[in-house]
Amino acid sequence: MTEAIQIERERGLLTLRLNRPEKKNALTRAMYSALAAALKQADEDPDIYAVLLTGSHECFTAGNDIADFIQQPPSNLDSPVFHFMLNLLECRKPVIAGVAGAAVGIGTTLLLHCDLVYVSADARLRMPFVNLGLCPEFGSSLILPRLLGHAKAAELLLLGERFSGEQAAAWGIANEALDSGEAALAKAREMALRFESLPPEAVRISKQLMKAPDRELLRKVIEEEGALFTQRLRSPEAMAALSGFINRH
Ligand code: COA
Repeated sequence: MTEAIQIERERGLLTLRLNRPEKKNALTRAMYSALAAALKQADEDPDIYAVLLTGSHECFTAGNDIADFIQQPPSNLDSPVFHFMLNLLECRKPVIAGVAGAAVGIGTTLLLHCDLVYVSADARLRMPFVNLGLCPEFGSSLILPRLLGHAKAAELLLLGERFSGEQAAAWGIANEALDSGEAALAKAREMALRFESLPPEAVRISKQLMKAPDRELLRKVIEEEGALFTQRLRSPEAMAALSGFINRH
């Protein structure tokens, strides 16, 4: 088990905290595996009513660890990152995200699969997949155009434009933008705790109903995106961009 994921159980609330500050909480294979296992546990344990996914007051996550992308790129749907995202997708309990600072790459993508998202107004979100020679992942090519319209989604996915927490809330990617990182994390926790007094079975069925219409389509899109993403990781375009980040100093 890696220390870069802190798992706290407080009665029926499971908090998963990204904790690798020296690398801006960039996600490694070990971190994905720990997150995947914790989500599975949350799904199976009848006493867990909600999952809170968060980072620090300063940083959510800088996305996939770029050194890992070069050294141990995911090659198929059996990779830790896929286990994590598929468990997030399948999780029957509500997942609430508290986001401050950078939320880059998968750090933004994963928010599209959470049920409630609270961000600091000055959070810095971005999906720079094209900029890295990659392509959208985990359903974002389906979800974002539907949510934002093609034009706005194209700015985010084809140009890799940065956007703020305030914009994320205005566009419906987040529920609310708060004044500070502390306030965003506190609000996420407050909302997660609300589920303690709600009937768990009714919450579970309601979430299932909300997710059901798109489930099959989403799985198919995720497989297509995943196949292209793993190919792109080995492309000269991606190798050049990823090595550029590693060797930038
Ligand atoms: N993978 C691996 N290491 C990363 C990382 C990543 N995704 N993001 C940041 N780091 C490391 C940096 O290399 C640096 O390590 P070092 O001190 O050993 O050199 C450390 O984390 C701090 O990062 P730094 O860039 O100095 O912080 P910043 O506050 O100036 O910028 C970000 C923060 C998130 C904007 C910037 O780090 C960034 O753009 N990271 C890459 C994000 C990305 O493209 N992710 C997408 C993957 S698909």
